[in-house]
Amino acid sequence: MRITGTGHAGMRIDTGAGSILCDPWVNPAYFASWFPFPDNAGLDWAALGDVDYLYVSHLHRDHFDAAHLRRFVSKKATVLLPQYPTSQLEDELRELGFSRFLKTRSNEVHELDGGLKVMIQALTSPTDGPIGDSSLWVEYAGVRLLNQNDARPADLSVFAELGHVHAHLLQFSGAIWYPMVYELPQAAKTAFGKQKRDRQFDRTWRYIADLNADHVFPIAGPPCFLDDALWEFNDIFGDEGNIFPDQAVFLTEYAKVGGSNGIVLLPGSVTDLSVAGASTTHPVDVAAFFAAKTAHLQDMRQRKAPVIAAEKAGWSHPQIDVLGAVKKRLEPLLDESLYLAAGVGGPVRLDLTDTDGPHGRVVESILIDFPARQVRPAADEKVRYRFTTGRVLLEHLIHLDEGDWVNSLFLSCRFSAARIGQYNEFIYSFFKCLTEERLQYAEGWYDEHHKAVDAEDTHLGDWTVQRRCPHLKADLSRFGVLDGDVLTCQLHGWKFDLPTGRCLTSVGHQIRAEKTTP
Ligand code: FES
Repeated sequence: MRITGTGHAGMRIDTGAGSILCDPWVNPAYFASWFPFPDNAGLDWAALGDVDYLYVSHLHRDHFDAAHLRRFVSKKATVLLPQYPTSQLEDELRELGFSRFLKTRSNEVHELDGGLKVMIQALTSPTDGPIGDSSLWVEYAGVRLLNQNDARPADLSVFAELGHVHAHLLQFSGAIWYPMVYELPQAAKTAFGKQKRDRQFDRTWRYIADLNADHVFPIAGPPCFLDDALWEFNDIFGDEGNIFPDQAVFLTEYAKVGGSNGIVLLPGSVTDLSVAGASTTHPVDVAAFFAAKTAHLQDMRQRKAPVIAAEKAGWSHPQIDVLGAVKKRLEPLLDESLYLAAGVGGPVRLDLTDTDGPHGRVVESILIDFPARQVRPAADEKVRYRFTTGRVLLEHLIHLDEGDWVNSLFLSCRFSAARIGQYNEFIYSFFKCLTEERLQYAEGWYDEHHKAVDAEDTHLGDWTVQRRCPHLKADLSRFGVLDGDVLTCQLHGWKFDLPTGRCLTSVGHQIRAEKTTP
């Protein structure tokens, strides 16, 4: 089996029974904020795109690059489609010209021609990707690979049970706006960022230990940020609170916990994988490349400046009545929403500036009053969350009829946020469900999830607690770490105060716990 790195979460897998192209991403994503790092635009994409199978793990724009798929990937390719609750991924691929689909069933092995086997695990909670994220398992001639991508399965046992895995490719770096966009003192941001960076690595070590593959490949990040306004997010300033460590940092940190089987794939790196081992060739010297990372980024910044300028030129649509359009789109959804609106529980304000980001003069303020199910001009009233961003970004979202603001505005990091109290996952779930289909799905999911009785227990220190995490059901006997009476679930780092059962990270996620009598 041969794995060719194509950048970020992308790779091409070649076997004697066919080739699979995974998540090719080249064009900037999220309002031209994210670019693939290292630059992969110079690869021979015509050759890479001439494949038998295409796997797009999910619809996040750093995995689903519509312009690239349209231009470079063979429409004769059969799409290996994850089993998602909505048809959006299939619909969008059909629009690009793909017509052959293998609709996989989650966690079931599918045998393709020539002895190639694949299995896709689809994660389908409202908090997984843009309502859906997935991992791809491949087996050919006794060699097995898991492309976990940036998915966060509760455990990897379903893959491990299929036999020893030889290559495990997984995310290790950040891919979110927290904590950078929060209006906090720099010291607090650094402290939160450091916690997050540590947690990302801890989760990665846990997954690696669980699968125990022969070789580990750090993939799916970090992106790089080339616009002046976002340049500081690149991990080149020695900031211990930066959440975007690169693959070279991964190798260093991995070595500290005894890991010596890591392989970095640059765009164009090729690993020949067999049961006996792996040999990799790189287009450039890897250590030298990362040693010159800043120069590489500066170079890229210059080259891509016209791309960013061209994108920005298309954002402004001053004729759009933003308040009217947001009201028209959100109020019917607020009316239908039980769990999400109740989960948000208070008003959220959007402050819109006269720039393309949070820094500028606020020219309009819109209040989304979740309890009253109403959108109106904001008066001087207390809010639970406040987002500040450029008015042009909202104009463009409305122009595009965008139904997922997480997969556009929030991941762009072109906003600032302030909140009172804990993180509230329902806000972001709501903003990714701005269509009837998505909202209905999310509401149904929360309904089922909250009704599910989790009767199984596990024992941690002096405590008997429910075995499955109240967040997304991670197995706490594996992911739970106790520090005094506070339990941390390492899958997403949520904390629970066991004496009260209260979730310390987010509202609305009580845990069942009881002190075991000595
Ligand atoms: S499953 Fe997300 S924190 Fe436990």
